[in-house]
Amino acid sequence: MGIAFNNKNLSAKDRIVLALDTDSLEEVERLVKLLKDYVGCFKVGPQLFLACGYDAIDLIKNNGANVYFDAKFHDIPSTVAKAASTLVKRGITTFSAHLAGGSKMLKTTAKVARETAKKFNQPTPTILGVTLLSSFGQRTLTEELNVRMNIDEYVSHLTYLAQESKIDGVIASASEAKKIRKEFSDEFIILCPAIRPTWSVVNDQIRVVTPADAIRAGVDYMVVGRPITAAEDPIAAANLIIDEIEEASKIIEV
Ligand code: C5P
Repeated sequence: MGIAFNNKNLSAKDRIVLALDTDSLEEVERLVKLLKDYVGCFKVGPQLFLACGYDAIDLIKNNGANVYFDAKFHDIPSTVAKAASTLVKRGITTFSAHLAGGSKMLKTTAKVARETAKKFNQPTPTILGVTLLSSFGQRTLTEELNVRMNIDEYVSHLTYLAQESKIDGVIASASEAKKIRKEFSDEFIILCPAIRPTWSVVNDQIRVVTPADAIRAGVDYMVVGRPITAAEDPIAAANLIIDEIEEASKIIEV
């Protein structure tokens, strides 16, 4: 199944990546059936995958919906490349890897994933690089990782690595997205987490932005979880976000 990720002609719905943070297959089925017409794809992470494995993936795909596997791979090149190849063979062609894994890991993984996709007649993979986890602040970056750059510079530096390694895009916060959008081509994908519409609860996210702010910053896709899944009416919540994205996109076009 082709997925919306490497298509830049995006509708507001396409831009929403719904985080399936659950370990229950019944909950996955409920959310996918309810929301597949209101979001572009469903994000599967370790919690769900370790609990339900490929049953969760198959359930999403069998409902005609798209999957983004938030693998956040970070290992030696051959290990990540083989894992990516396994995913692609199973029809999971959009996934993430840490940019801190280095260009050799990224290039090898991209090459192997693309070759596997061709061989098994799957869509061309879309690989997104994790820049800096949003749980990091400047102090932890400087003191724990001993990185002498400020966060924006470090994220830009890693984004150059992503581009140089010929992967498809990065995961970054909206504040960093502005700089990335200026420095890199429009083709380069930016996915942004920690999205909070003004009407929603912040939960445990720290540096949150609204869907409109994300669009204004040049973000292509936004990960949204609890503002939709925990809403009393998830469809109404998704529609509010779609409206907000559409409004912000119109202003940009003018
Ligand atoms: O919208 P909500 O806070 O519920 O979204 C949670 C999801 O966002 C989780 O699946 C988490 O993995 C993801 N996330 C992310 N990158 C971050 C922060 C959160 O992908 N930097």
